[in-house]
Amino acid sequence: MTDTTSPRHVGTTSDEEEAAYLEVALTDAQAGHETQHVQKPAPESVARETVLVLDYGSQYTRLIARRIRECHVYCEILPPTTPWDEIATRQPKGIVLSGGPASVYDPGAPSAPDELWRSGIPVLGVCYGMGLLARGFGGEMARMERREYGPATIEVEPPTSLTPGPPLPDAGEGETLDAGVGERKAPGNQRDEGETPLYVGRLPSPAHGRGVGGEGIFTGLPASIPVWMSHGDSLARLPEGFRVLARTPNSIAAIGDDAGHVGLQFHPEVVHTTGGLAIIDNFLKRLCGCAGAWTPANVVDESVARIKEQVGAGHVICALSGGVDSAVAATLIARAIGDQLTCVFVDNGLLRHDEAKQLMDTFEQHLHIPVVHVDASERFLTRLAGVEDPEEKRRIIGHEFIAVFAAEAQRLREEGTEIDFLAQGTLYPDVIESAGHDTVNAARIKTHHNVGGLPEDLPFTLVEPLRYLFKDEVRLVGAALGLPERMVYRQPFPGPGLAIRVIGPISQERLDTLRAADAIVVDEVRKAGLYRTLWQSFAILTPIKSVGVMGDGRTYHDVVAVRAVTSDDAMTADWARLPYDVLAAISNRIVNEVPGVNRVVYDISSKPPSTIEWE
Ligand code: XMP
Repeated sequence: MTDTTSPRHVGTTSDEEEAAYLEVALTDAQAGHETQHVQKPAPESVARETVLVLDYGSQYTRLIARRIRECHVYCEILPPTTPWDEIATRQPKGIVLSGGPASVYDPGAPSAPDELWRSGIPVLGVCYGMGLLARGFGGEMARMERREYGPATIEVEPPTSLTPGPPLPDAGEGETLDAGVGERKAPGNQRDEGETPLYVGRLPSPAHGRGVGGEGIFTGLPASIPVWMSHGDSLARLPEGFRVLARTPNSIAAIGDDAGHVGLQFHPEVVHTTGGLAIIDNFLKRLCGCAGAWTPANVVDESVARIKEQVGAGHVICALSGGVDSAVAATLIARAIGDQLTCVFVDNGLLRHDEAKQLMDTFEQHLHIPVVHVDASERFLTRLAGVEDPEEKRRIIGHEFIAVFAAEAQRLREEGTEIDFLAQGTLYPDVIESAGHDTVNAARIKTHHNVGGLPEDLPFTLVEPLRYLFKDEVRLVGAALGLPERMVYRQPFPGPGLAIRVIGPISQERLDTLRAADAIVVDEVRKAGLYRTLWQSFAILTPIKSVGVMGDGRTYHDVVAVRAVTSDDAMTADWARLPYDVLAAISNRIVNEVPGVNRVVYDISSKPPSTIEWE
């Protein structure tokens, strides 16, 4: 059985944390019940019009997948070691080879399956991926003397001009360029003196304007494009049938052929590449022929069909945390199987102002999904009384959640509901991280708030309707399902809730003070239109008292701290430069409206070295 004694300080949302508790709780409650833990691959309906990204370990691989999905094409990331059969069964419309830290010439450098080059599937090789593509089709790369890193501008070759070879790239120490280059020179293919032409591929036929063949990758883009470069190898010899599509003063920036094989030496997926999304879109729509019909609405339809098929006549239990993942998962499941779903909301009394009520109202009145509301706030508060240590707080909260949830599952069973399935809000990044191909880029694995791995022998089956979605896609699906904006775009909130924002011992009174101050922070941030641009914005009740004056009297009251940060993933964060007016409004209102608080301070520390939460 899973260890329930260690704190689970996990993830960036309470959903993740509760998911971890749930596994434990239900494992306890189901001990002795035989069901199987089965995880299915992506069903075909979702995988329709699939593009695959083979991950060579670039820090940007996920960004490539995100961009592809932004173009409304479903996409999966796979390790490059995936057997060709597995790739082929997904019937990819295109394959992207990501960048990676290796050089194609490193011993043991990861490669692409040989079948890929013969498959006729359009391929986009990015950076390291371009090296693989070039070599796969018989070209050569050479190590550059100096790595090219950072902003650069590429010049797109005129689509109908002759495309002579590029100047000799820096071949690096000990490297010689291919001796056969001269032999491959085509007539009429001379460049300026001093430049050695490389192999010249077929010219685009007159019928091939930009928009056909590899040139289509730059359709609609200007001739000069600012890009983000990061490479140590550069092209030394074009593969047969390929043309140079763009270049920088130092190297060949893009190559392509007529069969939809394109190599880019720069990163189209990062924002620094202007028009990068258009380049990816061109690959998908022009070269792969994707229609781009993957939208939140059809994700809903497909998920509903899939859940129906998986669950059959079984019964699913789902814990709601107040966060977006569990809310979207529950709503999808309810749509699929109606009252075969039991939602449980364990109210620990540690949510923000009005959140528990909003959750219940949304589900029961708006979505008409019944929820078992277990008000365990007193129980949590009693257990937390006098506890100061943050990790001890976390441990207690985890324990209590498990105990309450397991008791609820037991009660349901005694009333005759056999629980076959546990709903989890697992997201695609969790799937990628646990898929094992992060060995290519171990640095990417979160080390800070890791969710404990699932026990091997789970006695129930998981339903994971969000398994193929990124967080922002979950939000879009939530919106498509009619969940209110407040729930869909809720900022991340830690599982232990306000308990780790009341610094020091917790009491009902201190929770109430914090809740009131926090509601003002959120309200003012929303009024300023900043809620969605901030990763998190909240109040902390410090254990400090300070002197103030109110009316004619001296006060000795609490200090509230305000924290607002911007971040992409909570691993690093910057303190938000909130406008002074917003800070002033927050401060005035807290001091005037929240009894017992006479001072407000703003936290101007970034992460690292500080953390986002204070405890
Ligand atoms: P820190 O404070 O470590 O937080 O910079 C990073 C992100 O994780 C959230 N967080 C938690 N989430 N349980 C959770 O589910 C926790 O115990 C916990 N502690 C921090 C935090 O809100 C931020 O988004």
